[in-house]
Amino acid sequence: MNLKETDSKYLAHTYGRFPLVIKEGKGSLAYDEEGKEYIDMATGIAVNAFGYSDESWTQAVTEQLTTLQHTSNLYYTEPCVKLAELLCERTGMSKVFFSNSGAEANECAIKAARKYSASKYGAERNVILTLRNSFHGRTITTLAATGQDAFHNDFLPLTQGFDYVEANNINDLEAKVERGNVAAIMFEFVQGEGGVMPLTQEFVNRIFELSEKYDIVTIADEVQTGNGRTGKLYAFMNYGVAPDIVSTAKGLGGGLPLGATLLSEKLSGVFVPGDHGSTFGGNPVCCAGALNILSRIDDALLSEINEKSQYIRSELMNTKGVTSVDGMGLMLGITTEKPVDEIVSECMNRGVLVIKAKQKLRLLPALNIPMETLSKAVEIIKSVCNTEV
Ligand SMILES: Cc1ncc(COP(=O)(O)O)c(C=O)c1O
Repeated sequence: MNLKETDSKYLAHTYGRFPLVIKEGKGSLAYDEEGKEYIDMATGIAVNAFGYSDESWTQAVTEQLTTLQHTSNLYYTEPCVKLAELLCERTGMSKVFFSNSGAEANECAIKAARKYSASKYGAERNVILTLRNSFHGRTITTLAATGQDAFHNDFLPLTQGFDYVEANNINDLEAKVERGNVAAIMFEFVQGEGGVMPLTQEFVNRIFELSEKYDIVTIADEVQTGNGRTGKLYAFMNYGVAPDIVSTAKGLGGGLPLGATLLSEKLSGVFVPGDHGSTFGGNPVCCAGALNILSRIDDALLSEINEKSQYIRSELMNTKGVTSVDGMGLMLGITTEKPVDEIVSECMNRGVLVIKAKQKLRLLPALNIPMETLSKAVEIIKSVCNTEV
């Protein structure tokens, strides 16, 4: 049996995989079993922030791995404490809880918001508003938070206490907040899995005005948008607002599993020992890698991200067959006249890995993709999308 057949025999059929075995990678280039080269414009869904086997990150991880790989949270370890310190210094947040994935980072955010609201306003004020078309994870509670019925149907009953607002619809938001039972509002600044759809500044402002007025907890799910992806360290910095909770994962670990839930001053005292925990959370190897990643996302890199974003946008917008380019920074969603599945598979044939979000082509290249590699990929994507020929 070859690898694909063995996968099909032994792995639970939860994934629709592309017909490609990635054997190795370096920077923004991936190689299959036959040695065919691909420019990776998807980075494992916004995870490999500095591409494959990045030297500096690999060294940080390897040094930690050969020193101390795990202790549990019964003891102090330096990488975990230093990473929490750096995250707080660079975001203005006050406290961090570490976990292993985006869904877990959101679970922690939901627990923090529920406890804050219940202890101040009573157990009845417990509804968390999320947005239609959002994506917050695959656990039963984060599925409930995910505002897409298609993900819910086979797994009922889900965790109670969620209600959904149409993204960018201020009237809907106001009506649901006015019911008086809202503990928190949870949202992605740019809906990733939902089709790379940014929230409008007006809608975000209204979320924060209402939250201020009624002491509602704002939860920014920055699992995908965080860690430089949108051209600022975190997407909330693009909107000039300060969420009460920021959850993140993906790019923070650079390819190792790490989730983080950042709590503002307002929620800094919400948890006491015993309230929450994770055996692997804050693992020293993952945290040493993340320290390396986070300290390299500086102003110079962020401005390169924005320049590359502009370049991709203008190249694609000038292509016949491309009708829109949405998103921020290096998180872009492209609407094409040709069916997206056709484009994804033709790009792969021609040596470029791209993915989709709903019916859009989604680009999530490495934050440091070299300009020459990027322009090669963009030329191929343009010619695949082009309907002129
Ligand atoms: C915005 C957002 N939140 C949460 C998640 C879930 O993250 P994980 O798959 O690491 O649990 C994702 C994953 O795509 C995401 O994009």
